[in-house]
Amino acid sequence: MTKVLVLYHSTYGHIETMAYAVAEGAKSEGADVTVMRVPELVSDEVAKASHYKMDQAAPIATPADLEAYDAIIVGAGTRFGTVASQMRNFWDQTGGQWFTGKLIGKLGSVFTSSATQHGGQESTILSFIPTFLHHGMVVAGLPYSFQGQMGTEEVMGNSPYGASTITNGDGSRMPSEIELAGARFQGAHVAKLAAKLAS
Ligand SMILES: Cc1cc2nc3c(=O)[nH]c(=O)nc-3n(C[C@H](O)[C@H](O)[C@H](O)COP(=O)(O)O)c2cc1C
Repeated sequence: MTKVLVLYHSTYGHIETMAYAVAEGAKSEGADVTVMRVPELVSDEVAKASHYKMDQAAPIATPADLEAYDAIIVGAGTRFGTVASQMRNFWDQTGGQWFTGKLIGKLGSVFTSSATQHGGQESTILSFIPTFLHHGMVVAGLPYSFQGQMGTEEVMGNSPYGASTITNGDGSRMPSEIELAGARFQGAHVAKLAAKLAS
């Protein structure tokens, strides 16, 4: 059975919600899916004062966990147009996996969120892709066969680079139906491709 890891970081729960939608999509293709998150770097004191969502059920991953999966789907919010440092810090500890080529040939994909429509979703995803390529991984996005990304009737995330959601400056907007559909589609797409790669 194809093994898919959804690996995320989420401060206020937006990416956490998207992560479970991605997982649902991958499961719909018969994959064995695990959702994990990367360690928080902010102190408990600061996290509480900033109203972080502290109750997140997903277990904390270690770099060695990555080795067990055929596909790794990474989700993290935009920070100044690039990926949150918690996710960056995790991957900066994968030198051992790089040195031993443990991730070569696996599939990688990214989803994200930002406060504003043009706050950097595409740059966040695109700036993460070199990490996959240095590891010898193959990259997948959100193909236009997900027609939901074509419309202009409503404010929404999603792009050919990956699913995404817009949170509002105050974080009040949770992922919309079309954004969750994009996340599910990406999960299913990655699971299908990973099964082909593994065969
Ligand atoms: C330090 C910092 C920098 C941020 N930079 C951006 C940014 O460049 N563009 C943007 O639209 N949102 C930005 N945001 C908002 C986050 O992207 C948003 O809170 C996050 O996507 C919410 O998802 P989460 O609750 O799953 O972490 C920033 C937030 C913080 C705390």
